[in-house]
Amino acid sequence: MAGRLKIGVLVSGSGSNLQSIIDQIEAGRLRADVRIVISNDPEAYALKRAREHAIPTLVVNHQDYKNREDFDRRMVELLEAYGVELVVMAGFMRILTPIFLRAFPMRIMNIHPALLPSFPGLHTHRKVLAHGVKFSGCTVHFAADGVDTGPIIIQSAVPVYDDDTEETLAARILREEHRIYPQAIQFFAEGRIEIDGRRVRVKSDNADQLPPLHNPPLEGF
Ligand code: GRF
Repeated sequence: MAGRLKIGVLVSGSGSNLQSIIDQIEAGRLRADVRIVISNDPEAYALKRAREHAIPTLVVNHQDYKNREDFDRRMVELLEAYGVELVVMAGFMRILTPIFLRAFPMRIMNIHPALLPSFPGLHTHRKVLAHGVKFSGCTVHFAADGVDTGPIIIQSAVPVYDDDTEETLAARILREEHRIYPQAIQFFAEGRIEIDGRRVRVKSDNADQLPPLHNPPLEGF
């Protein structure tokens, strides 16, 4: 459909973030079209989710390429062939080289299940619990050199409870991932994102003051 943001979604696993994007598009809240879903893993469940919604899928197995650069060149070629305007990494477990980053400058988004720049990389929830922070959350950011770096678009903070396990915390955060990713893409689709160095501003008519959060809750102070 004309006038809708053309996105390409990169996946490696279960694809629940892909699912939330598809659901929000079908609900009419996210005005985008998923032109292509690409997985580096032929077994990714995300591929099945895409096919169920008649979305074209491709597998680009990184093991078939002799280095990261060749893999990235193929990815860029395919994304361009499908007319992709915004690349959405949704649980895509590969590090991008400058070849990929330069082909889509500030047009690649990633989601990470922590409040960046804290706890980048793998085993996030384990590291969060070991450190004893009282809040964690998730971050949607533009991809840049390095793992989980790049200008931050939106974050959601969730409390960490005393009896949390990696699983309970992951589930609480995943629910928020499914809300903020479609929102970030919709901001982009509406042309409301302004990037100034590391700072991303989303133009908004009702930039209300948000309340502070406390965990444990304050008792009268
Ligand atoms: C999410 O927690 C995402 O933040 C991380 O990997 C997980 C992917 O989940 N990068 P899914 O494949 O979208 O279900």
